[in-house]
Amino acid sequence: MKKDILIGGAWPYANNSLHLGHLAGLISGDILARYHRINGDNVLYVSGTDCHGTPITERAKKEGRTPKEIDQYHEEFLKTFKAMDFSYDLYSKTETEYHAKKVQEIFKKLYDNGYIYEKIEPQAYCEKCNKFLQDREIQIKCPECGEITKADQCDNCGHTPSVEELKDGVCLVCGSKAVEKNNKNLYFALSRFQDIIQANTDKCKQFWRVNARNETEKYLKQGLKDRAVTRDLDWGIEIPLPGYETKRMYVWIEAVLGYLTDTMKLAEENGFSWEDFWKEGHNNKIYMCHGKDNIVFHSIIFNGLLAGLEDNFHLVDVIVSTEYLNINDEKISKSKGNGITALEMLEKYNTDSLRFHIINNGPEKKDTNFTIEEFERTHNNEILNKFGNLVNRTVSMVNKYFECNVPEYVGTLNEVDKEFEEFTTNKLKDVEELIEKYQMSNALQELWTIISRTNKYIDETRPWELAKNEETDKLKSSMYHLIENIRKIAICLLPFMENTSKDILRQIGMPEDLRTWNSLYEYDKLHGIKVIEKGEPIFMRKNVEEELEYLRN
Ligand code: MF3
Ligand code: ZN
Repeated sequence: MKKDILIGGAWPYANNSLHLGHLAGLISGDILARYHRINGDNVLYVSGTDCHGTPITERAKKEGRTPKEIDQYHEEFLKTFKAMDFSYDLYSKTETEYHAKKVQEIFKKLYDNGYIYEKIEPQAYCEKCNKFLQDREIQIKCPECGEITKADQCDNCGHTPSVEELKDGVCLVCGSKAVEKNNKNLYFALSRFQDIIQANTDKCKQFWRVNARNETEKYLKQGLKDRAVTRDLDWGIEIPLPGYETKRMYVWIEAVLGYLTDTMKLAEENGFSWEDFWKEGHNNKIYMCHGKDNIVFHSIIFNGLLAGLEDNFHLVDVIVSTEYLNINDEKISKSKGNGITALEMLEKYNTDSLRFHIINNGPEKKDTNFTIEEFERTHNNEILNKFGNLVNRTVSMVNKYFECNVPEYVGTLNEVDKEFEEFTTNKLKDVEELIEKYQMSNALQELWTIISRTNKYIDETRPWELAKNEETDKLKSSMYHLIENIRKIAICLLPFMENTSKDILRQIGMPEDLRTWNSLYEYDKLHGIKVIEKGEPIFMRKNVEEELEYLRN
């Protein structure tokens, strides 16, 4: 049955360029979106730029501009995602009137439901700068690893300090020791959703990646704490309640609501009901894809907000979280801004090779490392030699032996054919199962075993000898099976590398309407098709030296 699938990709802060590491953390969402679309589901894949909060005000200050002026990052993100072929249905930003208005309505509803309340308590204050300090405006020595870091989260070990641990902090701007002073804030009563969130986690977590399960369980075990949802800032969404004119909404609260406001926007523009995707009682599923530092904001806080609306919301089903992709063994930090940007890489390299490499080498279970040398090797060996050549050789043989006409299916002639068909069908099922468990790296690797097996089939059947000996039936069967497998590989590749896949399907003459996921398990789909007259290389061999030179400079 058709499902309504909502996929949310994390909203990157507009405070620096995107790196391959960010894309590696997000690409599972694109694969899921494409996979569900070719399965015939209704898919909404949404995200946007996160424009508010201290990461932005700090960056603006550093660049000597206003927070609004660093909008260029949004434009750059749009270009980057397009170049990487991400298939968002909507990529918006939090700094729009529409988002602000909807978020304020939701905030008001939570307040009316009694889940947002006022509290006065001591907070870190800098007497010299005359302001309350946000966590990331305070510098501390991390109590876990000893590194000097901002107090929101340790850059080195990821530790999130407690309020007590901020005691010896200093103001990042002027270096004076912070003092405590009473402050008034609004709090969200997250603690009241402990049971609901626990139950949802228990129900859904089976295939979540280890980090998502562990992080979420850790917070649940400690017992959920209420969270301040206002901040002493002048940049961000205004609080829709009197007495809070000088404060703004805590960035995470409004940013996660972007998944909802994006859906509402799309629904208004396209005339469907946003509730199909977000309410109980529909055949729907919600996936959230992001890096490991984002987990609890999605698995706990976002779900708490949805539950607090008391309006039959369906909570997040799947947390697809990644570890980090380091570049040349260096951790990419957006605040440090090190490393070559994703857009620069994409100007230089083929999108689909890059997609292949960051999926294949994706940080799904542990941190992984990206080096240009390894990327070159992947491009040349896995993509060009194993895959590109297979397509090329096969198309040429069908040209030569049958004047481009793909022979009819004659069933399995012998053990070799039989074993080949069985192997392929089993592996296709494995790939499908892995995608459904969001193990994208494994899925791609399994798909590649079909490619290796297909190359082996050429060696096993030796078509050139069959042609020479005029063993026509066997030659037909061999050519049929080769094209059949290339078709299946290409269809299976659609969620991962759509352009490459479509190029291959065009070369083997597959009509558009036969490119469905279901057809993966069918034979006899090639009736009357013709491959193109001259096989074209699907990937160009790169000038390795020239590229290495460029990247080293
Ligand atoms: N801007 C955050 C980051 O870069 C991610 C926000 S995801 C959202 O870590 F859902 F909250 F928008
Ligand atoms: Zn100060």
